[in-house]
Amino acid sequence: ATQRRGYHEKVLDHYNNPRNVGSFPKTDDIGTGLVGAPACGDVMKLQIRVDKETNTISDVKFKTFGCGSAIASSSYLTELVRGMSLDEAAKIRNTDIAKELCLPPVKLHCSMLAEDAIKSAISDYYSKNPKVQKTNLAGT
Ligand code: FES
Ligand code: FES
Repeated sequence: ATQRRGYHEKVLDHYNNPRNVGSFPKTDDIGTGLVGAPACGDVMKLQIRVDKETNTISDVKFKTFGCGSAIASSSYLTELVRGMSLDEAAKIRNTDIAKELCLPPVKLHCSMLAEDAIKSAISDYYSKNPKVQKTNLAGT
């Protein structure tokens, strides 16, 4: 009985107790990603707070208007990216999220929303802090 009403229990856990719900004021250490899923119209907003010294994600919040899988995907994503460098976080694939939450194929686009959201938040941060990206690129 790991499934109830078609949702895996990990999805239900995140859906019932979503982690890191909320939003930050848009200061220049915050990257905001706002993305939508064309398939269903669901919307996810993800914000990261970046530690400028280490270029890592020190805090993260989300708001998702969407299905249980989208909420679970964003909640799990916030746990995953906290403490990651921006480079690491940019490599997260929706399949990593889908696998952790045991999402069925029809719900794969819900985890895609989370991948799009973190990528969009990172690029927003870089667009506000162009020097950081330059330093980074020079260092690789
Ligand atoms: Fe119904 Fe996404 S399609 S919530
Ligand atoms: Fe569209 Fe889940 S059904 S995000």
